Amino acid sequence: MNVIDVNASVSYPVVVGGCLLKDTGEYIRRFVPAAVKAAVITDDTVDGLYGDTVRESVRRAGLDVCTFVLPHGEASKNGENYLRILSFLAAEHITRSDAIAALGGGVAGDIAGFAAATYLRGIGIVQIPTTLLAQVDSSVGGKTAIDLPEGKNLAGAFYQPALVLCDTGTLDTLPEEVFIDGCAEAIKYGILGDEKLFEHLKEKGPGFDREYVISRCIESKRDLVMQDEFDRGRRRLLNLGHTTAHAAEKLSDYSLSHGRAVAMGIASVARAAAADGTCSADCAARIVDALRRFGLPDRFGYPFGDMYRVMLCDKKIRGNVISLVVPEEIGRCVIRKCTLEEMKSFFSPAFR
Ligand code: NAD
Ligand code: GLY
Repeated sequence: MNVIDVNASVSYPVVVGGCLLKDTGEYIRRFVPAAVKAAVITDDTVDGLYGDTVRESVRRAGLDVCTFVLPHGEASKNGENYLRILSFLAAEHITRSDAIAALGGGVAGDIAGFAAATYLRGIGIVQIPTTLLAQVDSSVGGKTAIDLPEGKNLAGAFYQPALVLCDTGTLDTLPEEVFIDGCAEAIKYGILGDEKLFEHLKEKGPGFDREYVISRCIESKRDLVMQDEFDRGRRRLLNLGHTTAHAAEKLSDYSLSHGRAVAMGIASVARAAAADGTCSADCAARIVDALRRFGLPDRFGYPFGDMYRVMLCDKKIRGNVISLVVPEEIGRCVIRKCTLEEMKSFFSPAFR
């Protein structure tokens, strides 16, 4: 078991290890000490797999428990369900000193996090991520959100949890494609700041050491969150590969998974960086090899013109300027501000 302390506007531990779910109740008592009741917010798949273990543990610890179950999938992360959760919390008489337990992937974590941030102007939340993506990224750092009909994650808040419990055993039941999606984000952390992590992933492939990899990703994210909790500077490094990835997701009408889109985005920015001399051709080739080791795709199926048109609507654009995350070598990336014309020239060689 490994414990990683995050010291942002709120300090909290991220616990990484096996067999943690059965101790959820004790953890809630320790980190939300005034709670007398916990509201578990989860999805139907995860509830069927792990809901009883969590509820039994909470009851054993002497707390009351209630559960709100969402249909699984991104479509549930919407305003209607958000309001339904708030009404549920009120109907269950959840008070300001009680706790929410977000059990599931990034969808449950994001919507439960936003509910926790806003219900009674903020109540304690324990994040219990059960996908690799949620364990290495979304459960840590306090970004919470729901989607609007106009776009993804358009309403939300920065709201840090009281505790994150990453039970690595829950990854055993993940469908392979969901697991591999999360691997793209883990590779991202290696490229951003940790060559040893990158090499471990490249060597071991999907059989990597989970506790080591998840812990290293969380430590990297923790360091960025502690430097820039509100995403005004260095935290934006976490967007490596995301500008082109978001465009491809949108072009596919969201049938392309986020992890696969990020993999292609990372490969495209690496190729573009090699073409303009920011990184070596060898660095770009190592990145592409690592993605292929996991069976992740490294080329978009869309013409660059189509991609560029969608990239022009990117949320990160300010005026005529966008910040791109560009690799210089494995373990070092920079944030480069460029005009939209410069972005076009930068990426176009990567699509040839
Ligand atoms: P998800 O929550 O939809 O989970 C993917 C699928 O896996 C779902 O069908 C779920 O039911 C199933 N599942 C979850 N855990 C399981 C388990 N242990 N065994 C079997 N099935 C399981 O998706 P995700 O990929 O975890 O998260 C994506 C979401 O995260 C997006 O909404 C994205 O915007 C958000 N996100 C947020 C942040 C952040 O910083 N807040 C960062 C990255 C992504
Ligand atoms: N997932 C990006 C961030 O937390 O900033």
